Amino acid sequence: MGTSATPEKREGFSSTLGVLAATLGSAVGLGNIWKFPALTGENGGAGFLLIYLCATLLVGLPVMIAELTLGRTARANPIAALKTMSPPGHAWWLVGFMGMLAAFLIMSFYSAVVAWVFAYVWKSLEGSALSSDPVVTEAAFNSLVSSPWQSLLWQWVVLALIGGILLKGVSGGIEAVTKRLMPLLFVLLAGLCVFSLTLDEAAAGLAFLFSPDFAKVDSSVVLTAVGLAFFKMSVGMGTMITYGSYFRSDQNIPLTAGRVMCADLAVSLLAGIAIFPAVFTFGFEPSAGPALVFITLPAVFSQLPFGHGLMVVFFVLTSIAAIGAMLSLLEVPVLILHERFGLKRPQAILACVIMVAALGAACALSASVLADFKLMGRTMFGLADFVSSNLLLPLGGILIALFTGWVWGRDRFTRALSNDGALGNARLASLLVILLKYVSPVLILIVMLQGLGYL
Ligand code: PHE
Repeated sequence: MGTSATPEKREGFSSTLGVLAATLGSAVGLGNIWKFPALTGENGGAGFLLIYLCATLLVGLPVMIAELTLGRTARANPIAALKTMSPPGHAWWLVGFMGMLAAFLIMSFYSAVVAWVFAYVWKSLEGSALSSDPVVTEAAFNSLVSSPWQSLLWQWVVLALIGGILLKGVSGGIEAVTKRLMPLLFVLLAGLCVFSLTLDEAAAGLAFLFSPDFAKVDSSVVLTAVGLAFFKMSVGMGTMITYGSYFRSDQNIPLTAGRVMCADLAVSLLAGIAIFPAVFTFGFEPSAGPALVFITLPAVFSQLPFGHGLMVVFFVLTSIAAIGAMLSLLEVPVLILHERFGLKRPQAILACVIMVAALGAACALSASVLADFKLMGRTMFGLADFVSSNLLLPLGGILIALFTGWVWGRDRFTRALSNDGALGNARLASLLVILLKYVSPVLILIVMLQGLGYL
């Protein structure tokens, strides 16, 4: 352990509100605004939504509570936390190590997408990506992703910004920024929703989102929904262990996690309410997939009154969402390098930013100079997404659930969850132990097998 990180000097979140903002900031991200509407659109709407809700409750929430509790009890990075909490000689710390790898991989493709979002803030200010013709908006998107320098420069802008915020520390950086940005995100999103609901085909958009049609639901839809629940709640890779280690001792963990889950779901639903009525009103396909946000939406905006301004608002709010998630992703390896390898925080941040820039370049260039460079039939972008989402996150989730339920054990978990008996939540703890020991691991295993193509 580095001498610079003695327990008494360890930083943490300073207020209950700050804890909530930072944790919610991690959960809310491109997952809500880029992935959720795209997946809901592709998988038939409300049926998918309902399954995603169940998956969030059965998988996302229990693992999130487990991670936060482990982190707060150990008050350490994920590797050290799992090491000190497991019996001597056991290699559970490897789960923390795997989490660090997952963080780097996710950041390498996530930062490439955030880079497009930042570029779109710029493009929408200029008005350059705005056209009623989807062919034109597609060409605008392709010209961005196929330009190596544009892709790299925007990615560096993103990384410099995130690194700069982390330099200000846990409370002065992460907490201060997310506390200001999260309310702004809600205001902007709610504004867009109100606007969208005034459109002619608002009812068709809402029906798509809220009246389930189970004919479209098959096993792969179920599994996609479980995977999304996972990615959305930022679980399976130690992010929540890291943030839990910054929680105050009197923080009510289940309550915080429950609030984060509800607010995160609300952001996804608001994003759906903002997007689908507009998509239906102008006769576009809801199933455009990842292109929905960058290609379909600009075409939709161009037909709305104040479309130019609305497009700016939309991409600004997407950037805001992505910043909180990126902060939490980068903080995982930063804390490990700082505590475990003794690097000073600024050095750790610089080292991680450089590593992400190097790995991320391969993803940012996947649509241009590296388009033909493929491993296992995938571009670097596709591979980073695949390995992290389908391999490392689910495996990490299973192992964290099993570790909490079977190794750390019911008694210690129950005591920690109740803040040493101060909160009367023993029944909830028993229920969570059952979910963690049996339900979540089995469900996650199914997701993983599907991701690997065995089901
Ligand atoms: N939850 C974030 C989102 O929805 C992504 C994320 C995954 C962040 C894993 C941290 C860890 O965009």
